[in-house]
Amino acid sequence: MSTWTTDETGPTLHQSVAALETPALLVDVDAMERNIESYAAFADENDVSLRSHAKTHKNAELAALQDEMTDGGGICCQTLGEVETMVRNGIDDVYLSYQVVGDRKLDRLCWLSRKAEKLATTVDSVATIEMLRDAARDHDTTVDVVLEIDVGLHRTGVAPGPEAVALAERIDAADALEFDGLLAYESHVKAEAATESDFEKRCREAMDLVQDVVADIEAAGVAVAEVKVGGTATSRYSGTHPVVTEINPGMYPFNDVGELEHRPWEVSKDDCAATVLTTVISVPDDDRLVVDGGSKTFSLDTPRMPVPRNRDDVEYVNASEEHGWIDTGNSDESFSVGDRLEFIVPHVCTTINLHDRIAGVRDGRIEELWEVQARGKVR
Ligand SMILES: Cc1ncc(COP(=O)(O)O)c(C=O)c1O
Repeated sequence: MSTWTTDETGPTLHQSVAALETPALLVDVDAMERNIESYAAFADENDVSLRSHAKTHKNAELAALQDEMTDGGGICCQTLGEVETMVRNGIDDVYLSYQVVGDRKLDRLCWLSRKAEKLATTVDSVATIEMLRDAARDHDTTVDVVLEIDVGLHRTGVAPGPEAVALAERIDAADALEFDGLLAYESHVKAEAATESDFEKRCREAMDLVQDVVADIEAAGVAVAEVKVGGTATSRYSGTHPVVTEINPGMYPFNDVGELEHRPWEVSKDDCAATVLTTVISVPDDDRLVVDGGSKTFSLDTPRMPVPRNRDDVEYVNASEEHGWIDTGNSDESFSVGDRLEFIVPHVCTTINLHDRIAGVRDGRIEELWEVQARGKVR
């Protein structure tokens, strides 16, 4: 029988990367800080606020760092569980870009809205407005509300037009609700645009739609204080439109293979801060090896595969749960069991969600450890 046990096999502070057990989720802290600084400078130049989406990393310490580096722009969440994690860890300005439905959830939201200095949530229908108003009344509180407009993603949101105006008027008239403005998440552009000028054109078209909605709502006598827009790729273009007041990117500190493919003119491998370090566990023949990271290590919810961070001569071609198949046919190197390979993650949000901890690396050592605190908090 073993004379020792361990319940902790993950990275530890100050450990060298070379000594890590694998697979290990790493974040290059220098690259992450550069990325945050670059988006903060973009927001500054375009006179918009930068509210970082914490759905990507689900960690309050990283959220606090982003809040600080973006001049107190606040934090965005996608689940109430994420909001709870943020608020209980001292983040006091949160926007929940998601509809809250169900009595128990509405109770939690009202409780949190008392605890946070500022907490806004999202509606897009008479039903969501009325549920929220009734809950806020029952809790004797006022909830800040953002109306979601569908500018082309066709997920949630009310279509631009008279119904949007009627919903804004309804929120404005509700005693327990405060109308903050609009959410116009425009990530459909990512699937439609292939070039920088496509991104510019399609984001501008989406924002022109929002501008018309704002004009219609204001013509009805309701002030629209905020227009919040989306993500890492599109906010670089939408954020230059005069109607936008706030951008809500999530992946931007880390990037991933998706961002590399969507905007090769803007994102390089050096900008991809989130990687997984793997170990070669088998070299079955000259043009193939297997690493210890498969689909339980890299989320494969998109058609993209992991991409080697520091080399182009090997290709990650297939995965099973704990195995990654690597084609080494184009490499001159001969690989051995125990060698290490580092890969940029295909989709950073869903990959982080598979791990307990993110290891922040600087100069080859673990400088920070961030727990993926809201992992599993889907409610
Ligand atoms: C409403 C909303 N805003 C912002 C984001 C962040 O976008 P990205 O992950 O492209 O940075 C998301 C991502 O899913 C989202 O759903």
